[in-house]
Amino acid sequence: MDFQLPILAPSILAADFSKLGSDINDCIEGGVTWIHCDIMDGHFVPNISYGPTIVKAAKKSAPEAFMDVHLMIENPDNFVSDYVQAGADLISVHYEACPHLHRSIQNIKKHGIMAGVVINPATSLYNIEPILEYVDLVLIMSVNPGFGGQSFIESSYEKLQGLADLREVGGHGFLIEIDGGVSLKNIEKVAEAGADVLVAGSSVFKADDITARVQELMGKLADS
Ligand code: DX5
Ligand code: ZN
Repeated sequence: MDFQLPILAPSILAADFSKLGSDINDCIEGGVTWIHCDIMDGHFVPNISYGPTIVKAAKKSAPEAFMDVHLMIENPDNFVSDYVQAGADLISVHYEACPHLHRSIQNIKKHGIMAGVVINPATSLYNIEPILEYVDLVLIMSVNPGFGGQSFIESSYEKLQGLADLREVGGHGFLIEIDGGVSLKNIEKVAEAGADVLVAGSSVFKADDITARVQELMGKLADS
């Protein structure tokens, strides 16, 4: 799949769920083509968010959008088909939640969609080196997973650059996604550090005018 990089990926975790469809449409109106869905089970992370029903509803609101499903759950293998049926175009699973990560990645790809691996702030890039040739995307957590609205962990810049180097040296083709604490203040620096896909939750949905904010963020990405 060819993407026009870098990509802004609004995380609907921060949306107003009393008007989820309208918030998503405001993003699409601003030019968004990629939606980030944060699935949390209250076990792998200390929060519960939503399930396949909401992903399906989001897809219905934006049928053209690329649905990026981030599983912050235990035993993610058991839920892949539910999210594929809900409309996922990509499913990413945490290195820390998958004792058999190679099999988990193959299981996602078997469903005909893209597969990503996620690492938490305290997990080294070298833990995922053996899987890099098999994934379509690597997601670097720049906050501790479980909540929106947290501050960007500054050491993520170095991690982004290190991952971009590993990709180049290995001749890999995966996308690099960054997730957590991306805002108007740091989005250009984050893109310049190597992010291809930049997740933004609160900086998009907590704005008074979502469409204008999306355009502002995408404008900064275009300049980066
Ligand atoms: C956190 C999620 C992030 C979060 C981003 O566990 O994976 O996607 O929703 O929200 P902000 O952009 O507000 O940090
Ligand atoms: Zn996420």
